[in-house]
Parts: sequence; structure tokens; C-alpha cells
Amino acid sequence: MRRIVILTGAGVSADSGLGTFRDKGGLWSRYDLSEVATPEGFARNPAAVHDFYNLRRANALDAAPNAAHVALARLQAARDGVTLVTQNIDDLHERGGSGAVIHMHGQVTRALCNACGARWDAPRVMAPGDACPACGAAATRPDVVWFGEVPYHMERIAGALASCDLFVAIGTSGEVYPAAGFVEEAARFGAETLEINLEPSAPGRFDRVIGGPAVEAVPDWVDEVLGT
Ligand code: APR
Repeated sequence: MRRIVILTGAGVSADSGLGTFRDKGGLWSRYDLSEVATPEGFARNPAAVHDFYNLRRANALDAAPNAAHVALARLQAARDGVTLVTQNIDDLHERGGSGAVIHMHGQVTRALCNACGARWDAPRVMAPGDACPACGAAATRPDVVWFGEVPYHMERIAGALASCDLFVAIGTSGEVYPAAGFVEEAARFGAETLEINLEPSAPGRFDRVIGGPAVEAVPDWVDEVLGT
């Protein structure tokens, strides 16, 4: 049984109309990430950070999963041993049919209380004065991992990387650690590595590269894996 770990990035949601970060015109060319995606930025100006995630939450909720999300859900349904890790904070994998999704950078559809640690489904619009439903403190934030914070589920991901036969990175630039190091970690444990990307992110880094938009390349790859 080939155990497969899949890591997705913004490129898998690009064909659903959600922007990427580092492509031309990407999010980080329009916003200063230190202002909207760090704890320091949130402390300085929580309203600006909430506005940024309110926009991203609305975009995510208004977007539809694409054929790549649906194909990955088909793979998970058809095969045991598939671990899906995403850097994305949208819920398109879930709405595409995936039952188990490891969100290492959190989810824009979830909220977190900085005072008591409670988590709940985020309202469509969040604001600095919102009270935590558990403790009442006006200390709520989007349940997303900012730069300088520790990504979620790293133990679980490390375990999956140490025991997989194939590691597949889909639609990620491989610029942000620790996710960027997963390919080397999997290879160190003997896994084959595959990248599916519009452009190869780092020639020579993966055993195999499939070029093209995820919306086309991922269903084709899933058909290849399932022999359909
Ligand atoms: N199909 C496949 N790949 C695509 C497509 C597409 N239609 N469009 C873009 N890509 C690829 C780009 O070639 C690039 O390699 O998606 C990748 C997008 O890279 P980034 O914008 O850096 O996004 P990502 O790798 O997910 O960023 C990682 O950085 O800012 C943080 O927390 C944020 O999770 C994010 C992390």
C-alpha cells in the first residue's frame, strides 16, 4: 500500500479565483505581510488585520472548489494511506469532498480567543470588539497561523512524512518553512517526490515534476494513481 502525503498551497485554489501570494499581482504585492499577517501587526492594528481576513474569508466563502480539490477528495475516498496537508486557510478542500484535511496554517473559517484559547466557527465578519463566546473577552482573532507563530499539527505531519512512499507538493512555491522543507524530509525517509505546479518551483528538488494548472494536472494525476 503506497502511503501518500500531499501538501497543497495557494496554487490549488488559484483556479477557484482565490489569489496566490507570490505570483505577479499576488497578495504580498498588495499588502504588507508584517502589517496583516503577524502577531505584532495584529497588536498594532487589530481592525486592519480583521479587515484583511474578512476580505479573504468572504472571497473563500464565495469561491467554489475546483476540479483539483474534487480529484484529491476522490483519491482520499478511493485509497487508504492518503494524508492531505494544506497551507491554505480556505475550506475548498472540505467543500470539494475531502473528509480529512490537516490545516497547518489554520482556517479563516475558524476563530480563536487570545484570552482563553477557545475556538469556534468564525462569523463572516469579525471585528476587534467581538466578545469570545466562551469567556466574554474582546480578544478574538482569526484562527490562522501568522508569520513568527508555530504551524499546527507538526507532530502529525512529521509522522506522516517519515512513513510515506510518495510526497506530492501541489501549487506551492516552497518559499515558506516548515512546509518548504517537507520534500527533503520525505526524501530523507526514502519517499519518491513529485511536484505539480504551473511552473517548477525549484528544478532538481523533486524526483518528478508535472507542469500545468492544478485544475487540469491534478485530476490527470489522480487518474494515473487510481488507474482510472
Ligand atoms: N495551478 C498550479 N499551481 C499554480 C497555479 C495553478 N493554477 N497558479 C499558481 N500556481 C503556483 C505558483 O507557480 C506558485 O508556485 O502556486 C504557487 C503559489 O505560491 P505562493 O503564492 O508562494 O503560495 P504558497 O506556496 O501557498 O505560500 C505558502 O506563504 O504567505 C504564506 O501562509 C501563506 O500558506 C502561505 C504560504
